[in-house]
Amino acid sequence: MQQLIERSSLLQRVLLRLKESPAVALLGARQVGKTTLAQEIEKRFPKSKRFDLERPSSRAALESTPELVLSQAEGLIIVDEIQRMPSLFEILRPLCDRSDQKSTFLLLGNVSPDIVKGVSESLAGRIQFVHVGGLNLLETGNSSLQLLWLRGGFPRSFLAETDEMAWRWMEGFQQTFLERDIPALDSRIASQTLNRFWMMMAHYHGQIWNAAMIAQAMGRSPHLVNHYRDILAGTYMLRILQPWHENLSKRQVKSPKIYLRDSGILHYLLGIPSQEALRSHPRYGASWEGFAIEQILSVHGDKEAYFWSTQRGAELDLLLLREGKRWGFEFKCSDAPTTSRSMHIAVEDLKLDHLWIVYPGAEKYSLTDKITAISLEEALLVISVSSIAQ
Ligand SMILES: Nc1ncnc2c1ncn2[C@@H]1O[C@H](COP(=O)(O)OP(=O)(O)OP(=O)(O)O)[C@@H](O)[C@H]1O
Ligand SMILES: [Mg+2]
Repeated sequence: MQQLIERSSLLQRVLLRLKESPAVALLGARQVGKTTLAQEIEKRFPKSKRFDLERPSSRAALESTPELVLSQAEGLIIVDEIQRMPSLFEILRPLCDRSDQKSTFLLLGNVSPDIVKGVSESLAGRIQFVHVGGLNLLETGNSSLQLLWLRGGFPRSFLAETDEMAWRWMEGFQQTFLERDIPALDSRIASQTLNRFWMMMAHYHGQIWNAAMIAQAMGRSPHLVNHYRDILAGTYMLRILQPWHENLSKRQVKSPKIYLRDSGILHYLLGIPSQEALRSHPRYGASWEGFAIEQILSVHGDKEAYFWSTQRGAELDLLLLREGKRWGFEFKCSDAPTTSRSMHIAVEDLKLDHLWIVYPGAEKYSLTDKITAISLEEALLVISVSSIAQ
């Protein structure tokens, strides 16, 4: 068996949530490691029961008498592949409200509640959601930086023996996603159409979302391409980064930016099979930016994260609001990044507490009292200890 990469801070986060509320949902892309994490959690409970809705026996039990089956089980009750039976959320509501607390529910799924009607409403206040992303650099270790960037955070791709094997895994992933997961979500979408859209998103990685332009390129309506975008975002393939704007005497961009969340999938779709090919690819810088953003947000969380851009060209790749402070991040793919005019404007206009230039090197050096160049690992560490010390 392949070695298991420890995901201790994610594990601790889930255990804490399970103490706080009667139901926790672990949500994330398929194959990202949800079931594996749930198995680790299960070991920490003296009593548990698992239902996998991909299995006919579990499905049958929960389809005929779900209330009875679920109310009789004790301890940790895991329901895997919950997206196959979203009606269960409604059934869980009274069970979560029981006063005896003889059971806690851990639900696993690969579809965001945003695109499943009724889910967040039916369990509002009773359920906590934890996102399971791909592996991050703190889990794989900094010596794996280049590998993690090239192959992305899906464990099977990251841990493959060779780049070719990782590539073949991607092929299978793409096929199953398009031919099985998407039709299960929306049977009206042809897999070829979504594949084209997905490919297009790889080319637009790191750019401002413009529905009219994509619609024209696809020969579809803006309404439809917005729907495709939401499907890819709701299955954790695409990140939609919201724009920050405030009362400045400048015109600011108000449309979101889009990124493929996993750098391995980005590279696969762009036809970048190796580190050499990545280094000479025109999307090298955009790839680093997307990879670093995703890594940082895996530690910071999805909320209170924005980019900023003005019509006149000043911009900031990532703005995090943390503990009443404003932290700016710029991602540069050079060996020794320096400051730019745009960075000074961002520091001034947005009143940043600090701006970090995250680059693939190792050394930390300060450029001004407000601007510091830093490695990705160090950026993750300072965010994970919660207060960003200078
Ligand atoms: N922490 C880890 N270290 C090493 N390998 C892992 C880790 N987590 C998951 N894997 C491997 O990745 C693959 C997918 O993991 P898993 O089945 O847990 O994902 P999942 O999110 O439940 O996928 P699905 O949505 O398809 O059910 C498995 O082969 C598993 O062994
Ligand atoms: Mg699973």
